[in-house]
Amino acid sequence: MMQIGDLIWSHSLAFTASALSLLTVTFFLKRYVRLRHPPGPFFAAFTDFWFAYKFWTGTTFARLTTDLHHKYGPVVRLGPNRLIFSKASAIPVIYRTTDVMPKSSFYLPIRVMIRGREVTSFVSILDEKRMSAVKRLLLGTFTMNSFLRQESELDHTISSLVRYLEDTKTDIAIGTTLGYWAFDSISRIAFTEDQAFLSQQQDFGNTIGGASERITHWHYWGAIPTLEWLLFKNPIMQRTGNSSMLGALAAQRLQKRLRGEKDLESQLDLLGKYLAASRRAPELINTTDVGGFLVSTMHAGSETIGQVTAGILVTLLQHSEKMAKLEKEILSASLSDMPQFSEVNSLPYLDSVIQLARPSWKGRSQSLGATIDGVWVPGGTNVSVSTAVLNRDADVFGPVAEKFIPERWIGLSEEQFRQMDHAELGFSTGRRICIGRILAMIEMKKALARLIKTFKIAPTDPSDNLQPIVHGPIRPCYNTRLDFVRREKEDVEKAAA
Ligand code: HEM
Repeated sequence: MMQIGDLIWSHSLAFTASALSLLTVTFFLKRYVRLRHPPGPFFAAFTDFWFAYKFWTGTTFARLTTDLHHKYGPVVRLGPNRLIFSKASAIPVIYRTTDVMPKSSFYLPIRVMIRGREVTSFVSILDEKRMSAVKRLLLGTFTMNSFLRQESELDHTISSLVRYLEDTKTDIAIGTTLGYWAFDSISRIAFTEDQAFLSQQQDFGNTIGGASERITHWHYWGAIPTLEWLLFKNPIMQRTGNSSMLGALAAQRLQKRLRGEKDLESQLDLLGKYLAASRRAPELINTTDVGGFLVSTMHAGSETIGQVTAGILVTLLQHSEKMAKLEKEILSASLSDMPQFSEVNSLPYLDSVIQLARPSWKGRSQSLGATIDGVWVPGGTNVSVSTAVLNRDADVFGPVAEKFIPERWIGLSEEQFRQMDHAELGFSTGRRICIGRILAMIEMKKALARLIKTFKIAPTDPSDNLQPIVHGPIRPCYNTRLDFVRREKEDVEKAAA
């Protein structure tokens, strides 16, 4: 016969199990009910692991969102607390510039923590008030005039690039080489000196690799930031964190500048401008923040430009008739030997080629409670726009929107241009739009004009399928091997005719 103690024990166990089951069911039911109207994958309604799992198993965000919108329509539930939208009508609400929806917790895993302190970075500041105050202090830093005062720095690295291509001629891994060029260029903009990545053909201290690993880490863990913190940013892990080579370099240049320069205000480079801002408002930007801002600008402004420029060249090689059109525009424009931005800025075909080449991106905001594309979205919900799907929206970009047709951007009425430009999110939009977009356009236009003016470009292996490499969830990597053959006079005349 069962003892009375055993009976109580088994009843308590049964009670605990039932209570736990009830709590679990209630927990998941509450999660489900919160956003029950928008359709989406069944498991995504209950757990963010569904979304994270898709990244871990190598699905790109572009592929995932394309499939989901195809199946479920323009508004999809991607997590218990997460919605994505594919129509341009969502943009003015998600990226509005007053009563701003702040960046969501998706950005927490991109933070770098060392010994309990967050290393300051533009992209991971979630406090919109602080970001606005910082931007006000840096007013004038990221403008056309400001960057054009450093145009000779960009000329310097473009000349180094041309020299390297002339000497090497063949079998050039274009993504790697343009990554080195872009890194040296942003170094010159940041400290008025480059790091010789291009001439040495080396990613010293894994600087470029490290930046791209940071982005990969962010994408793997963005959907589950609390677990990321527990695994990678707990106090023990933070103690083992070391400053990167770029962090050490920025700190060293900063100290040197502080010791050596009396008149910081007159410096043209980013370091000078960040230091001047810090002097004006040390409570907002302290000296350590200056180092953090330098590193984050250099990270944000190197791999992006290198990859987009490589992508443009490879895409043009896939479409020889478009390349011929661009060659004709550039070769008949009587550009200076080193094209100045004032000469290349108004080349319409070059401009349209670059418009098309910006990568799709997935910035996320946190709703403050709003109706987005006809759906009521409660406060605290993570919302974003599926740029890969929007970029192919025929209602905005016309028929065959998925094809590489630069002509799409030419001869538009003001209204048509406004509509397409508004939906083009390659640099994001709203308050957190890319602060380096003007520099990116200057660099890319100058470099592309100079390369196409100087060289006939072709794949090293004529049977190469010219497709980018897709590693896991991150955007495709363009690193095709190319030949650069210096143009002869007759070739120039023929292409320009
Ligand atoms: C073709 C080149 C570039 C592309 C496609 C690009 C794209 C973007 C995008 C999509 C964002 C928004 C990211 C997000 O909030 O999730 C962004 C932010 C940012 N970009 Fe760029 N960018 C480029 C070049 C540059 C350059 C050259 C610089 C440096 C001068 C730069 C500095 C930044 C910074 C600091 C942010 C963070 C701004 C903020 O959070 O408010 N970018 N960029």
